[in-house]
Amino acid sequence: MKLPGLIDVHVHLREPGATHKEDFLSGTKAALAGGVTTVLAMPNTQPPLADGSSLHKAVSAGQEKALCDYGLYLGGSMENPDLLPEIADQSVGLKLYLDATYGPLLLEDTIHWRKLFESWPRSRPIVAHAEGKTLAALLYIAFMYDRHIHICHVSTREEICLIKSAKEKGLPVTCEVTPHHLFLSKEDIPALGKRGKSEVRPRLASRDDQRALWDHLEVIDCFATDHAPHTLAEKEGEDPPPGFPGLETALPLFLNAVHEGRLSMEDVITRMYTNPRAVFGLPEQQETWIEVDLKRGYEIRAADQYSKCGWTPFEGWTGLGCVERVVLRGEEVFRNGEILTTAGGGRNIAPSLTYQA
Ligand code: DOR
Ligand code: ZN
Ligand code: ZN
Repeated sequence: MKLPGLIDVHVHLREPGATHKEDFLSGTKAALAGGVTTVLAMPNTQPPLADGSSLHKAVSAGQEKALCDYGLYLGGSMENPDLLPEIADQSVGLKLYLDATYGPLLLEDTIHWRKLFESWPRSRPIVAHAEGKTLAALLYIAFMYDRHIHICHVSTREEICLIKSAKEKGLPVTCEVTPHHLFLSKEDIPALGKRGKSEVRPRLASRDDQRALWDHLEVIDCFATDHAPHTLAEKEGEDPPPGFPGLETALPLFLNAVHEGRLSMEDVITRMYTNPRAVFGLPEQQETWIEVDLKRGYEIRAADQYSKCGWTPFEGWTGLGCVERVVLRGEEVFRNGEILTTAGGGRNIAPSLTYQA
């Protein structure tokens, strides 16, 4: 079956600074293997993408190595509101880290949030990591500035219900949910052994939270992986960082859910292609599609993945709809497990964004 090239609006490619975890080459290979032809990359790199020179490092790495199309988020910091307007157009959006997670970009109070809302141009979206009560505060601030806000990785009943109410009031809010919050709950942590210890942010939630996400599918605009690769050694070592990889497992898990009747094919395409494009104003990729074999089930194994991280929380699960072919702008770039393209074929989509808040 032919599907459009998928879009993942939330991935961590770790470049610059932590290319032993992932880089533009391995991360975009993982994307293609997962049927994804556009990735939007997060700014919590080392250094974080929070000014022109750090952004330039990531732009060059992408230019040199990316195999699929990509966009870069800039990170809002307590120091950078004044310098952002000049470089905003080279990014696909502003990421606000409003709760503690991996990396140094935490914005401590609403004074800083407001400065960023004031300086960030309406030509690019604002996305946020905002959990629980933080989300309620953020919705209020976005309302005050009459601004669209995209909420990353919604994981609880409280959050999905807050977003539902905001949408019912007519606020321009959109959101994404990850496969790990849909398919795993905190009951699954023990089975992850040592690598479950630092798990992920937002943390895996209760069975009731998980059910609430499935019960509110209509509120979920996008499925995004929050592909957050850390090596197995790091996950199992001292002071492990939070994060799960996801690029290579999202589509097979969702197609499995289609097979089980929990989702329709249209539910998947809407949330992994149509809505991501509409929410972020992404350009069309001409002559681009993927082919999946819906009859082909297989065992998910980290050993088969292109990500450098070397593990998956879905080891041994059954995936469905093996990605057989990926065609990007008329060129076959992936077939039956093999990457067929050399580095550099991916485009930075920042200049062609059509978003307007
Ligand atoms: O678990 C997480 N890992 N949550 C985040 O928000 C960041 C991410 C990372 O960069 O590793
Ligand atoms: Zn986050
Ligand atoms: Zn993330």
